[in-house]
Amino acid sequence: MRGEESRGTINPWGNNQAQDYQSIFSEFGIDPISTVLPELPEVPPFIRRGIVVGHRDYQVVARAIRDRTPYYVMTGFMPSGHPHLGHLMVMKEVVWHVRHGGTGYIAIADREAHAVRGISWEQCRTYGEEYLRCLYALGYEGTTYYQSENHALHGLAFEASTKVNFSELSAIYGFGPDTSLSHAESVITQVADILYPQVDKGPAPTVVPVGIDQDPHLRLTRGIAHKLRMFTVEEREGYVSVRSKNAPQEAVSAVHAAFPGSRKFEGHVDIRGRPLHEVKERVREIEREHGGYAFYTPSSTYHIFMPGLQGGKMSSSVPESLFSFGEPDESIAKKVRNALTGGRMTGEEQKRLGGEPDRCSVFLLNLFHLVEDDQELEEIRKACQEGCLLCGPCKKATLERVWSFFSDFRERMDTAQTGGG
Ligand code: TRP
Ligand code: SF4
Repeated sequence: MRGEESRGTINPWGNNQAQDYQSIFSEFGIDPISTVLPELPEVPPFIRRGIVVGHRDYQVVARAIRDRTPYYVMTGFMPSGHPHLGHLMVMKEVVWHVRHGGTGYIAIADREAHAVRGISWEQCRTYGEEYLRCLYALGYEGTTYYQSENHALHGLAFEASTKVNFSELSAIYGFGPDTSLSHAESVITQVADILYPQVDKGPAPTVVPVGIDQDPHLRLTRGIAHKLRMFTVEEREGYVSVRSKNAPQEAVSAVHAAFPGSRKFEGHVDIRGRPLHEVKERVREIEREHGGYAFYTPSSTYHIFMPGLQGGKMSSSVPESLFSFGEPDESIAKKVRNALTGGRMTGEEQKRLGGEPDRCSVFLLNLFHLVEDDQELEEIRKACQEGCLLCGPCKKATLERVWSFFSDFRERMDTAQTGGG
């Protein structure tokens, strides 16, 4: 596997350029987000706007949102640079879920930043605080922690590591003989991040909003969550089968006793006349009573990446690609003026042919962050496509929005600094 760099390899530490999402999705078994729409009580803005495009098992979470039953929303940020607009959208996704019944968990991945990017602990702390202030500025409520300081997390990571070997890590990540052990540790720490809410507050569905580059971690975690279960519960022809994977004998007997009329065999119990979800729930309780984790396999959503102002990647290592939160107004203005648009060579040509908003970084700024009203955004799109709006005035209007967005956001970050935590 190693070195194969096949078409479909996803490297979480690589540079995530715009990708051919559809082919990656189908290769890795990620479903288009449209498949969960029927289960959601309302369509969140990030789905409506085409920002979140794929998922794994999100229907479980969608039902929890709809039925107002408990679930978690968990994600992490690596403090290897300043947060920027590209991070805000996943933060907004988290906040939306918290407002719609989810219990929030945020990991600051300082172990990962230290292991993979060589960032000092002190620097991790400084960047980490900035991420947290952004989150609070957006209205986040819930748990936050630094990986390095969460001892329960370390115990969980160790337990999870009993279910992974080196050949699996090399198949998923291309790790080889030269890979540092700390890199492998940061992977297993992320697995623990994702499972941590269920250990902290009990089993419930969990959604992990991430970019597609993080999918390898999700695949690994879902496998481990499954392996750490005592039982597998499955619908069979006319009955529900509860199979022991590594359950103690007393737990198997407890399942048998919990369902009068069930039949107990070597290592499995067959239950007739009970719906699958009821059996699943009861088996989870029994698993917990016998010291098991009873994990729900975590779900995930995948968002597209916000392109940089010059096209390409938005990254703190490319200053022209983004605005920093402390950026002076004049410097912001210059970046907006120089931004890559979907406009034509000449004004005359643009009036005739119209612009291409979907390829325009200025339009995407509006779409991701600046224009909340759907109708207003549609009007901009239409005016651009019909050639009634030209890039000069469009950039000017956008700049006004960026300025006011930033001054408002900075103010909220400052308040969060003193009031949040
Ligand atoms: N690896 C992620 C990144 O590079 C950060 C991260 C750490 C994370 N723990 C997580 C993401 C848990 C999702 C869930 O951005
Ligand atoms: Fe982009 Fe606006 Fe120009 Fe259209 S008019 S291409 S949206 S800058």
